[in-house]
Amino acid sequence: MRLRTILGGLAAGAAMMAVAGATLAQDARSVWDGVYTTAQAARGEAAYAQNCGFCHGANLAGTGEAKPLAGPEFLSSWNGLTMGDLFERTRTTMPLERPGTLGREAYADILAYVLKSNGFPAGEVELDRRTEMLAAVRIDAFRPSAALTGTASPAAATAAVAPNSQPNPYATDLGFFKPPAGRTLGSSSGVAIDSRGHIWIADRCGANSCAGSSLDPILEFDAQGRFVQGFGAGMFLFPHGMTVDSKDRIWVTDQQSKDGKGAQVFAFDRTGKVVMTLGKPGGGVAGPDTFAEPTAVLVTKDGTIFVADGHSNGKGPARIVKFDAGGRFLKTWGERGPGPGQLEVPHTLGMDSKGRLFVGDRWNDRIQIYDQEGRLLDSWTQFSRPSGLYIDRNDVLYVADSESRTPQGYGHHPGWARGIRVGSARDGVVTAFIPDTESNPDKTATSGAEGIWADPQGVIYGAQVLQKGVARYVRKP
Ligand code: HEC
Repeated sequence: MRLRTILGGLAAGAAMMAVAGATLAQDARSVWDGVYTTAQAARGEAAYAQNCGFCHGANLAGTGEAKPLAGPEFLSSWNGLTMGDLFERTRTTMPLERPGTLGREAYADILAYVLKSNGFPAGEVELDRRTEMLAAVRIDAFRPSAALTGTASPAAATAAVAPNSQPNPYATDLGFFKPPAGRTLGSSSGVAIDSRGHIWIADRCGANSCAGSSLDPILEFDAQGRFVQGFGAGMFLFPHGMTVDSKDRIWVTDQQSKDGKGAQVFAFDRTGKVVMTLGKPGGGVAGPDTFAEPTAVLVTKDGTIFVADGHSNGKGPARIVKFDAGGRFLKTWGERGPGPGQLEVPHTLGMDSKGRLFVGDRWNDRIQIYDQEGRLLDSWTQFSRPSGLYIDRNDVLYVADSESRTPQGYGHHPGWARGIRVGSARDGVVTAFIPDTESNPDKTATSGAEGIWADPQGVIYGAQVLQKGVARYVRKP
């Protein structure tokens, strides 16, 4: 509340300044233009450790009431304001117990360190210590969009909308799929639909792992939910991400690895024959032809393959790997962290009609939108913490949050409820919210859908780990 009032005041102040400084706006720069130096950020790091780190945390991650000074929350608060606003806010109120005591140079140095920590590039000149100069440097959370974007970042437009307030126009059906006799559906985070309307499920062998199981993890059901066939027995440890491409090939990632097995991506034709394999069995490390923990796979219409690699926060890779249609390595991008171009647990992939790659950056509670060369175009938080996402041919975006919870630690994302959010991949507006049914989400690491897909009529399928099986959501008439 207090922050909101302060920011409101700042925004009004910034507007007044804009009137007075129309010429400044002409040659306005942004934090992407290299507005501090590496040496300055190093000085700032030392000053930060001395004066701010006690409250705001060793890595700017925040502690208690002292908010993070790096990452999505910080960036979304300051997006659209100027470095002058941030400088004045800091200089006049911080350090909390003795505001204004550091001198302008030290505040500028500390903010240089803050910029560096948020992933903004260093340049040739130091960050200025004069408020009026800093007022000409805009804080753009996301690199000014390339031609592909088409729309302005919707973050600001949707920030005012309460996170869980959208209506739920869907009825839930938990018993739609009829597995073969003697088989029950286990945990699943992968579901996809082929061109005939058949629904494919990557089932963790009736349990939450396929290790040591002789059951088929890949199951085909017809459009009425009747079992058709299964395959893949003995091939997987932990089936995770799934997609069906435009040639009806079924792609599944094995996220875990052990004893020379796992950490691969398999493509099957619809009879269950393996038509492509990416990664080496038992991989466990990130290389051009090996994965650490492949979580998701996406195939474009022309056959280009994207794999998300990295399921562990704080260790291992957090990257996207791109292959050509023949499975040859093309490039990789992404590093772990909360900054603008960074990722932490890339968990799911989707692509809109413009060819933009949507990456569910789960640990950072956001969707990162890239072009197919890995340039960051936009970053959205209004779809909450994405475990699964799917974009249909009309650019309807479906996002499953299976983790948000209030307590500190795993899944910490206060104010956001688990469930499925439906909206637009074009303007980023969320229009529907299907709340998860788990009564005590703060006590579980996951619940509700992780994997998600929708058919052309808008019927949604959510693949669940905790509740197991795949739920079906149909719009009420
Ligand atoms: C004694 C603890 C403490 C110290 C030391 C401290 N802060 Fe803070 N800071 C807070 C608290 C608490 C808040 C949130 C309450 C408020 O807005 O006043 C905050 C808020 C902020 C904000 C606003 C964050 C936002 O969400 O926009 C900034 C920027 C900031 N501090 C920077 C600094 C810097 C830079 C230093 C070191 C020069 C510093 N703080 C030192 C406790 C501290």
